[in-house]
Amino acid sequence: MLVNRQFCRLFKLTAFARPQIRLISAWKNVPAGPPDAILGITEAFKADSFEEKINLGVGAYRDDTGKPYVLPSVKEAELRLVQKQLDKEYAGITGVPAFTKLAATLAYSPSSAALKEDRVVITQSISGTGALRIGGEFLAKWYPFEKTIYVPTPTWANHGAVFKDSGLMVKSYRYYDKGTISLDIDGMIEDLSAAPENSIILLHACAHNPTGVDPTPEQWQAISKVIKSRDHFCFFDMAYQGFASGDTDKDAYALRYFVEQGHQLVLAQSFAKNMGLYGERVGAFSLVVDSAEEKKRVDSQLKIIVRPMYSNPPVHGARIASEILGDEQLNAQWLTEVKAMADRIIEMRFLLKKHLEDLGSARDWSHITSQIGMFCYTGLTPQQVATLRAEYSVYMTNDGRISVAGITTKNVK
Ligand code: LMR
Repeated sequence: MLVNRQFCRLFKLTAFARPQIRLISAWKNVPAGPPDAILGITEAFKADSFEEKINLGVGAYRDDTGKPYVLPSVKEAELRLVQKQLDKEYAGITGVPAFTKLAATLAYSPSSAALKEDRVVITQSISGTGALRIGGEFLAKWYPFEKTIYVPTPTWANHGAVFKDSGLMVKSYRYYDKGTISLDIDGMIEDLSAAPENSIILLHACAHNPTGVDPTPEQWQAISKVIKSRDHFCFFDMAYQGFASGDTDKDAYALRYFVEQGHQLVLAQSFAKNMGLYGERVGAFSLVVDSAEEKKRVDSQLKIIVRPMYSNPPVHGARIASEILGDEQLNAQWLTEVKAMADRIIEMRFLLKKHLEDLGSARDWSHITSQIGMFCYTGLTPQQVATLRAEYSVYMTNDGRISVAGITTKNVK
C-alpha cells in the first residue's frame, strides 16, 4: 500500500505539470449533456461568423435594428433609483414588499376581491423560471392530492424539467392541432375531463409559448368549467402580460376570470419580456388562498422553501419594476412602450407573411399573423430548420418556433 502511494505520488509529480490529488477524476463518468433546446441556439448563433446571421431562437425583444432594447421607462426608473442613493441591504426572504404588492395588483387588478380580502400570498422570484420552481416545490411539498401536473402539448421547453426537478410528476394534455394550426379545444377539454380529479393543470395565461395560440374568452370559460367539474387545480404561467395584445388588462383576462370563478390557483409572473428586464431576473410567485389567516400559514412555508434555495432575491430589478408600476406617469409611459413592442412584432408578422406570398409560396401562412405574442410556430420541420441554419445562418428552435422579435424591416426579406 505504502509503495503504491509513493509510486502514485512520484508518478503524479512527473507525469503532470499541475499537482493533482486524484489519479481518477471525480467526474470521469459524467456524460456530456445535450445543449439547451432554447439557450443552446444562442450559443450556436454566437459561434457563427456569417455577418447576416439571424437569431430567431430565444424569446428576447429586439428593436428594428436588431439590437436589445432597454425601455426608456426602465432607464428613467434607474436614474431615479440612483438619485435615491438606496443601500444594498438584503431584501426579506420574499423580496421587496413594494414590488410584490404592485406585481400582484398588475396581475389580479386593483379591484380584485382576493387582494382586497387579503387572500393573495406572494413572493418575489428569480424571474418566471424561479417562480415556476418555487411553485413546483411548494406543490410537491404541500399539495394534498396526487402531485401530477398536466402541461399542454407543446409547451415551453423548460416546463417539464422545472416541474420534474421540483418533485412533481409531469403529464400532458392536448393543446395544439398541427392540422388546423389552431387550438385543439375539443382534445384539450377531453384530456382535462379524463385526468384524475384534483390534478394540477398548467395554463399559459396569454401568448402561449411556443405556439402563439391562445383560447378565446369563450374557450377559457369552457376550460374553467371543465377544470371546476373535475376539481383540478390551476397553475397559471404569465410570462407575457401586455406582450400579447399590448394591453396588460386584456392579457390578464384568463387569470382574472378564473379567480372570479372561485378557482384556488397559483401564478408565476415574469417581468423579463414586458419590461425588458431579462437579465435582472424579476418575477413573482403568488397563490390565491381561502382567507387572510391561511395566507399567513402559507406565507411562512413559502419562506421555508425559498431560504435554502437562494436566501432572498436580488433587489435592483425589483426596485426598477416598483418605480415604474408605482408612479402614475412612468407607468403610463411603460404601457405605451409595451404596446409599441407588441405592435412592432405584429408588423413583422405581416411583413414576413407578405414576403413569403410575394415570393410565390403556395403554402397557407395565415397562422403567422393569427398567432400572437413573441413567437410564431411556423410548422417548419426539424429538417427545414436545420437547412435554414446550415445554409442561411437563420437560427430557430428545432420545433420550428421563431421569435418574431428577431425579425426587422432590414432582415425580413
Ligand atoms: C424563450 O422561450 O425563448 C424564453 O422564455 C427564454 C427562455 O429562457 O427560454
